[in-house]
Amino acid sequence: MGFSAVKLSDRVYWVGAVDWTVRDFHGYSTSRGTTYNAYLVLDEKITLIDTVKAPFKEEMLARIATVVAPADIDYIISNHAEMDHSGALPLVIDVIKPEKIFASIMGAKALEEHFHLGREVVAVKDGESLPLGKLTVKFFETRMLHWPDSMVSYIPDERLLFSQDGFGMHLASSERFADEIPLPTLKFEAAKYYANILLPYSSLVLKLLERIKELGLEVNIIAPDHGPIWRKEPLTVVSWYKDWAEQRPTAKAVVVYDTMWQSTDFMARAIAEGIAGEGINVKLMRLRANDRSDVMTEMLDAGLVVLGSPTLNNGLFPTVADMLVYMKGLKPKNKVGAAFGSYGWSGEAAALINDELRAMGVEVIAEPLKVKYVPDENNLQQCWNWGRGLGQRLKERIK
Ligand code: FEO
Repeated sequence: MGFSAVKLSDRVYWVGAVDWTVRDFHGYSTSRGTTYNAYLVLDEKITLIDTVKAPFKEEMLARIATVVAPADIDYIISNHAEMDHSGALPLVIDVIKPEKIFASIMGAKALEEHFHLGREVVAVKDGESLPLGKLTVKFFETRMLHWPDSMVSYIPDERLLFSQDGFGMHLASSERFADEIPLPTLKFEAAKYYANILLPYSSLVLKLLERIKELGLEVNIIAPDHGPIWRKEPLTVVSWYKDWAEQRPTAKAVVVYDTMWQSTDFMARAIAEGIAGEGINVKLMRLRANDRSDVMTEMLDAGLVVLGSPTLNNGLFPTVADMLVYMKGLKPKNKVGAAFGSYGWSGEAAALINDELRAMGVEVIAEPLKVKYVPDENNLQQCWNWGRGLGQRLKERIK
């Protein structure tokens, strides 16, 4: 159907798939779609690096066929067993009948547990090399980035790093290279990916960056498993990762809330104005108008998170509870926070938010702010003052 491969070098081609329509990636809103990147290395042993999500198998095979006959592929390397990269593997094995399949030690187990392949997956060790002919691939384990099985593959002669989920982003495009896409788009989507996929493993990201430095790996091309390939200035995305992994708080606040009869909304707006009165950059995000994954993206570099909920049946409003569960799993660090909300009868919600913030390691810097029923002018002034106080505390914290 006219699918083609894209040349990265004389010996390496992109042969993945573009998913223009996916809008949900296990709870993360992929509003610009994504790509599942697979790569073909031409050598004495023709090698396929990763595959694609199962429904895109034919697209990948069609792209491969523009370079070599799929049945001529000798090796498959699986850098990551998650099904957006391995879903097509059993079907592709049937077509290609590769001589060998390689994965990390954990990857070999994970592929068996997913697909019950009925054939050996050769487990490679951290630091091991695989000769392909003229080129050699080196493997480095990157456990928990993003799964326990994850590894990256590096071809020293090409200075090319197949970085799997790392340095990727969910962005469908007709362009295959980062230098063909506006930098703000790349930075936004890479940040969204980091905030929603890799954030809990930030300490491992920092260790990995340190290891790459210690090993003296020279990288001219970063070829991730999602989104565009970095062939010019690949250290751009590496330096972004260092900043995001360090999670240094900045003069930015995110006010996240939902509302039943607009009272918590009135409070949120007054609080946001108060924070902004201290010269802090504020993002006001009502849940049901903003996806949880977009909220996490804004929280990535925020120093202050303020969450608000009306009390519903002695508890949290459901969207706020959803946000807190999602946020807790992503383990943000180095943030201060506070909670607010309107109520009619009992008013538990703000205190429940504070409990959740503390449980996830956010330092709560103010008593919960509650207003009964509809806030009047005095209440709104109180909200503004409370917000300004939060802004002052943040400024003191990041001095
Ligand atoms: Fe793109 Fe962890 O899978």
